Amino acid sequence: MHQALLVPEVLLEIFAYVNTIPPAHTTEIFGHVHIIPWASAQVTSTLAALARTCKIFHEPAMDLLWTEIHGLEPLLGCVARLHPLIYRRGTSHPTWDEFFSSSWAEGVEPLSANETRQFLRHSSRIRTLNIKRTHPRLFYVIPVNVYVFPRLRSLILSTPFLNLFLSHTLHRRHPLSIDEGPQSFVTRCIALEHLYIHNDGCYDSASRLSLLSNRIRRCTRLVTLSCPMLNWETWKHLSCLPTLLELEIDQGYDDTPSLSKRDIANLSFLNITSLSFRGLSDGAEIITVIQNSQFPSLKKFKFAALYLYSEEAEQLFHALSCCKACQTLEEITICSPDEGDSVPPDSEPVTPVPHLLCFTQLRTLQLWFYNPCIYLDDDILLQAMSSWPHIRTLDINYLDDHHSPSGVSLHGLFAALSLCPQLHTLRILINLTTIDVDPDAEPIQHTSLRTLELLDISQSQIADAEALARIISAWLPCVDKVESIGSTWDEVNKHLKSSTAATALYVAGAS
Ligand SMILES: *[C@@H]1O[C@H](CO)[C@@H](O)[C@H](O)[C@H]1NC(C)=O
Ligand SMILES: *[C@@H]1O[C@H](CO)[C@@H](O)[C@H](O)[C@H]1NC(C)=O
Ligand SMILES: *[C@@H]1O[C@H](CO)[C@@H](O)[C@H](O)[C@H]1NC(C)=O
Ligand SMILES: *[C@@H]1O[C@H](CO)[C@@H](O)[C@H](O)[C@H]1NC(C)=O
Repeated sequence: MHQALLVPEVLLEIFAYVNTIPPAHTTEIFGHVHIIPWASAQVTSTLAALARTCKIFHEPAMDLLWTEIHGLEPLLGCVARLHPLIYRRGTSHPTWDEFFSSSWAEGVEPLSANETRQFLRHSSRIRTLNIKRTHPRLFYVIPVNVYVFPRLRSLILSTPFLNLFLSHTLHRRHPLSIDEGPQSFVTRCIALEHLYIHNDGCYDSASRLSLLSNRIRRCTRLVTLSCPMLNWETWKHLSCLPTLLELEIDQGYDDTPSLSKRDIANLSFLNITSLSFRGLSDGAEIITVIQNSQFPSLKKFKFAALYLYSEEAEQLFHALSCCKACQTLEEITICSPDEGDSVPPDSEPVTPVPHLLCFTQLRTLQLWFYNPCIYLDDDILLQAMSSWPHIRTLDINYLDDHHSPSGVSLHGLFAALSLCPQLHTLRILINLTTIDVDPDAEPIQHTSLRTLELLDISQSQIADAEALARIISAWLPCVDKVESIGSTWDEVNKHLKSSTAATALYVAGAS
C-alpha cells in the first residue's frame, strides 16, 4: 500500500469523495425534501467494502458510513437478534412501505442490556440523526435511557417524539453513563448545531412549550433552528446567539400558549440571515416579536399565516420595514391563503408595497393573499420598480379572482418594466378594459422577462387578441406564452405561438 494512505487525513479526503450524500441540513432546511432511506445504496456499499478492506481503512470508512442516519432501523440492525428481522426481505433497501410500516417490530421484546450495547456500537459516529418519520413502535423496543450520541450535530425529529429531546432523566439509569447524572444529555445538547422539530400537531400544552424553550436555551451553538413557537425568554436567548443564522417557527394550526407580554424588550438578532414563520393560525404573536426586534443581517423573510386581518397585515409590513434590514433583505414571501371565517368577506385591501420600498436589495417578492387582497395600480408599480433595481421575481398573486379591486394597465406595466432590467418572473393583476398601448409604436424591449402570468380583472373577452399578441411579442420578446387561470389568454397565446414560430423560421432562414 502507498505510504500516503497511512496518513489519516489523506485517507479521509479520498473517502469523502465516495461519500457524496448531501448532508441532511442542506436538504432539510425549511424543506419538504424527503430523503429516501438508503437511497445512496451504492455509496453505502462502497464505504462498507472499504471498511472491510483493511485495518487502517476501517475507522474512517465506518465514520463516514454512519455520519448520517435516517430512522432507527440501521442502529437496531446492529442487534444480533433483530438483524434478520430487519433485513429478512433479503435486501438492505426496503421500499417506502416496508420502511414505514415497521411490521417486523410487532411483538418484539425490548433490548436487553447486552443488546443495548450492540445498538450503541456505532452511535458515537453519528453526526446527523433523522428520526422524523420513525414508526412509534420502534421506540418501544429501545429502553428509554439509551440515547447517547456524543458527536451529534444535527437532530431532526417531530413533535410526537419531542420527549426524547426534552426529558432530563433520560440517562440517569444508563449502564454506560451511570455517573453522569441528568446533566449528561444537556451537555451533549450544547454541541447541537442544527435542530429541526417538525410540528406534527401533537404540540399541545404550555408545559411542553416551556420545557422545549428551556431545553433550547441550553443549546448554545445553534446555527439553524426550526421548532414550534417559543417563549419570550427563549427569544431573548436566541437574540444573543452569534452562531444562529436561520430560524424557523412552525407553529402548526393548534392554539399555542401566548407569549407573555410582560417583559418584551428590544432584541437584536445580529447574524440571522433567514427568518421564517409558517403554519401560523394568526399573525398577532409573531408581529409582536418582529415589532420588538431588529434583524440587521436578514436576507430572507417568509411568513405564512392561515389568514391575516387587513390591520394585522399592515402592521406586519410596517414592522418589517422597521427591523433594520433595509440594506440586506433580498427575499420576501408573505402568504395568507385562507378565507378566514371571522374575516369580513370584503375587507379593505392592503397596500404592502409602499412599506417595502425601503428594501433596495430586493430580488424576490411574493405576496399571496386571499382576503384581504392587495391593492396595486400603475403608480405603485412604478414606484416599486424604481425602488428595487435588482428585482428578479415579482409575484403579487390574488388567490381569489372574484374580488379584485385594482390592476395595472398595459401601459403602466411596460413603463414599470423598463426600470427593472433583471426581472424574469412576473405575476400580477392587469386591467385590460382598454389596451392603452399602440401596437405600431416603437417598443422598448425587455429581454429578461420569461415567465409572465397576468390575471385580467376586467374578465371580459380580449377584443383584439392578435393586436395584443403583437404588442407582447414586440415588447417582451422572450415571453412566448401568457399564463393565467382560465382561458382568457388562449387566443392571444395562439397568436404568440405562431409569431414565435415565424421568428424562429426567419432566424433559421437568415443563418
Ligand atoms: C452478555 O454478553 C456477554 C459477552 O458477550 C456474555 O458473556 C453474557 O452471557 C451476555 N449476557 C446475557 C444476559 O446475554
Ligand atoms: C456574528 O456577528 C458578529 C458581530 O456582527 C460577528 O463578529 C461574528 O463573526 C458573527 N458570527 C457568525 C458565526 O457569523
Ligand atoms: C425599542 O426601541 C425603540 C426605538 O429604537 C424605542 O422607541 C422603544 O421605546 C424601545 N422599546 C423598548 C421596550 O425598549
Ligand atoms: C380598468 O380600467 C378602466 C379604464 O381603462 C377604468 O375605467 C376602470 O375603472 C379600471 N378598473 C379598475 C377596477 O381599476
